[in-house]
Amino acid sequence: MNNQLDSLKEVLLMGPGPSCVPPAVYTALSKPTIGHLDPQFIAIMDEIKVLLQRVMQTQNRLTLPISGTGSAGMETCFVNLVETGNTVLILVNGVFGLRMADVAGRLGAQVDTLEFEWGKPVVPEQVQAQLDRKRYDIVAVVHAETSTGVCNPIEAIAALVKPSGALFLVDAVTSLGGMPVATDTWGADALYSGTQKCLSCPPGLAPVTFSERAVAKLLNRQTKVPNWYLDLSMIVNYWEGAQRAYHHTAPINMLYGLYQALYSILDEGMTSVFDRHRQSHLSLVSALEAMGMEMLVAPEYRLPMLNAVKIPDSMDDAAVRQKLLKDHRIEIGAGLGPLAGKIWRIGVMGHTARRSNIDRLIHALEAVS
Ligand SMILES: Cc1ncc(COP(=O)(O)O)c(C=O)c1O
Repeated sequence: MNNQLDSLKEVLLMGPGPSCVPPAVYTALSKPTIGHLDPQFIAIMDEIKVLLQRVMQTQNRLTLPISGTGSAGMETCFVNLVETGNTVLILVNGVFGLRMADVAGRLGAQVDTLEFEWGKPVVPEQVQAQLDRKRYDIVAVVHAETSTGVCNPIEAIAALVKPSGALFLVDAVTSLGGMPVATDTWGADALYSGTQKCLSCPPGLAPVTFSERAVAKLLNRQTKVPNWYLDLSMIVNYWEGAQRAYHHTAPINMLYGLYQALYSILDEGMTSVFDRHRQSHLSLVSALEAMGMEMLVAPEYRLPMLNAVKIPDSMDDAAVRQKLLKDHRIEIGAGLGPLAGKIWRIGVMGHTARRSNIDRLIHALEAVS
């Protein structure tokens, strides 16, 4: 019988995720699977919570990885914090803001969206004007909008949301591990991420953290959390306390991988990791510009880990991406929604963020164009 895995070839992942996985994480993933209530495993879980608190820059007790990809993190935050009829404001300037609005709407929330041009950041003054018009239970925004490469001004938005009394919900799927995500300093009440971007772990887990205010809202709900699998009030009984209660079987080996990924980031030092992302981004942008290409986003709003570059008229979007993959084993991302066919999304996330990878991509782009 032919085993497809025997012929699997490694690809340099320079798209919007997943990113390349370092050898130490692969080694961790291949450690022996043990029971999900084995004391050895509980010790690893406890350590993961502490490592996550450090990487997410928070003292929040309720900080743990949800079983599922980044979207499960998004769903967890909304499903635990929204009750039917709650007012939710979503700040939208890309695909993932739109996804938040879809998720919140399915829970019976009264969802308003404040829309901003794709490729430009959220404008705090417009957020203030909307908060003056209406009272919201939750305000949500994406920190690093992966569909456009824009970094939203979280600190400025947080300063407006706090006095309004709303809970502040932040998507840090793409930013966590690649640039500062200051959960407590920002005053984010619920923040989620995913393993497959700058944490450089395969897709499959979604770190989330809830502030005391968010936990209070969860504990004071009038109705049950309408999703059994993502109900944090039950999940914490597996992740906390002297006596752990089974909720669902934890993805044991994925959690080894996350443990190692967090350990590696902290071992390298978060400042050095962020600097590596920044330097890779700057090298990439100057090389693309030297080839005559133009970035979508103005320099001051650019994300380091997700670079949206306009596709030159002389280049065929799909053909270039296919040749990069087939001839050079490099993956870059296509544009989404209104930006489909107009931009490429080049990721320098986690382990991928190094000069040698930028050089390899630029040589390959020169060869295929
Ligand atoms: C900003 C953002 N939020 C949420 C998600 C959803 O994550 P996943 O695809 O891992 O479910 C993504 C994925 O690209 C993302 O970039």
